[in-house]
Amino acid sequence: MTLWQGRLGEGPAPELMAISESVSFDRRLAMDDLAGSRAHVRGLERAGMLDGQEAAILLAALEHVGEELAGDQFLFRPTDEDIHTAIERRVTEIAGEAGAKLHTGRSRNDQVATDLRLWCKRELVGVARLVLQLQQALLERAEGAEDAYLPGYTHLQRAQPVLLAHHLLAHGWALARDVERLLDAVARADVCPLGAGALAGSSLPLDPEWVAAELGFASRFENSLDAVSDRDFVAEAVFALSLLGVHLSRVGEEVALWSSEEFGFLHLDDAWATGSSMLPQKKNPDVAELARGKAGRLIGHTGAVLTVLKGLPLSYNRDLQECTEPLFDAVSQVRRVLVALTGLISTATFDLPRMQEAADGQAAAAVDLAEWLVERGMPFRQAHSTVAALVRDSLQRHVPLAELVEAHPALGSEALPLLEPGVAVTRRSTPGGAGPGPVAEQLARFRKRLDLEADRVRSGERAGAGGR
Ligand code: ARG
Repeated sequence: MTLWQGRLGEGPAPELMAISESVSFDRRLAMDDLAGSRAHVRGLERAGMLDGQEAAILLAALEHVGEELAGDQFLFRPTDEDIHTAIERRVTEIAGEAGAKLHTGRSRNDQVATDLRLWCKRELVGVARLVLQLQQALLERAEGAEDAYLPGYTHLQRAQPVLLAHHLLAHGWALARDVERLLDAVARADVCPLGAGALAGSSLPLDPEWVAAELGFASRFENSLDAVSDRDFVAEAVFALSLLGVHLSRVGEEVALWSSEEFGFLHLDDAWATGSSMLPQKKNPDVAELARGKAGRLIGHTGAVLTVLKGLPLSYNRDLQECTEPLFDAVSQVRRVLVALTGLISTATFDLPRMQEAADGQAAAAVDLAEWLVERGMPFRQAHSTVAALVRDSLQRHVPLAELVEAHPALGSEALPLLEPGVAVTRRSTPGGAGPGPVAEQLARFRKRLDLEADRVRSGERAGAGGR
C-alpha cells in the first residue's frame, strides 16, 4: 500500500509507479530525511503533539532505520514511492502506533524541500573543498615553475611570452570565483522550509523557527507557498557547478592541446593517460577530454532545471521532482572531474625547453620594440606600424628581424637586447602582469586567497555537519 492510498479505491497501476517513483535516486537524501524527521519529532514533542515516550520511540526507530540504511540492510518495497515514504513506512513498522504520528503537521512538500536544502548545503561545500585542492595543485605547480615561460596566446596565435606560473594561476583565479559562487549558493539555500506543510502552514502549534535552528539552518521560510514551490536554490547550485565545469573544461582543453605532439608542452604521467585498443603507440588525454565533455552535460542540467521551473503555478507541483536528478548528477560529475584533474595536474611533466623555444621567436618582442620607440617619443600608432613593417619585411624576405632592427634609423643596435631570448617576459612589469615581479606578488596574493577560502570552506563544513 502507498501512504496516500486512503483517498483512492484501486491500487496504483504499475505504470503509474514507474513514472512516479523517485526512490531509485532520492535515496541519496536518506540521511537528510532522517535529520529532518528527528527535528520534526522533537518539534512535535515541544508542541505537545507527542508525549516523551512517543518521541523516544520515534527517535529510536529513526536511529534504527538509519543503521539499516547505512548498513545497506534497508529493504525497499515496490510501493515505496520515494525515500520519504520508504522511511516513514519503515518507522511505522518498527514504532507501531507512535509511527502513525510521525507525519503530523508535515507534508512531503516541505519535507523534500528541507532535505534538498540540507543536501545542497553540505554537498556544495564538499565540492568547494575539492576545488580548493585543485587550486592548491595549481599553486604548487606555479611555485615550482619559477621563471619558466611559454607563449601567451590570443586567437590561439602566439602573442606575448608569459610566465608558466602566470598561466597556471589564471585558472586558479577563475576557480576562486567558483568557490565564491558555490558558497554564495549555500548561503541562499540556508533557509528551512519545514513547517510550511503542504503549502499553507499548519493549525498545530509548530515552531518553524525552532526547527530551523534545530537543523542548523540560518533562518526559517518567510512564506509557506514560496517555501514548497521554489527550487531556485537548485538552479543556482547547478549553474554554479556548470560554470565550474566550464572552467574545468578550459583546463581540459589546454591539457589536451599541450600534450599533443604539435605543442609538446606537457607530458602526462602514465597513471593519468589512456592507451588505444588498436594503435599501439597512442597515449591519450582522456581525462582532459572528459573534463571538457562533462561541461556539456552540466550545462544541459542547468537548462533542464530552469525549464522545469519556468511557468509553474504556485505552489508545489510534481514537476519539481525533475530537478532532483540533474542536481545529483551535476555534483557527482563535477566531483569526478575535480579529483581527476587534480591528480593529472600534480603528476604531469612540463617540457620547459620546448615551451621556451616556442616563446622565443623574435616577433614575440614586437610590442617591446614599439614601446621602446614610444619611450623615445614616437606616438604609439606610428611605432606600431614601424615594427609591423619590419616583421612583414623579415618574413617576406627571410631576413632575421634583428638585422632589420639594427639597420633601422629609429631603432639600431641599442634596441637589439629586446630580442634576446627570455627578455620579453621580464618586461611585463605592471600589477597583475605576466612577468616575474608581478607574478611573485600574485603568488603571495593567491596564497592568501586560498587561506581565506579554506577558512570559509571549513566553517561551511562545520555548519553542514548538522544542527544541534
Ligand atoms: N518525491 C517527491 C518530490 O521529489 C516528494 C513530494 C511528493 N509530494 C506530493 N505531493 N506528491 O517532489
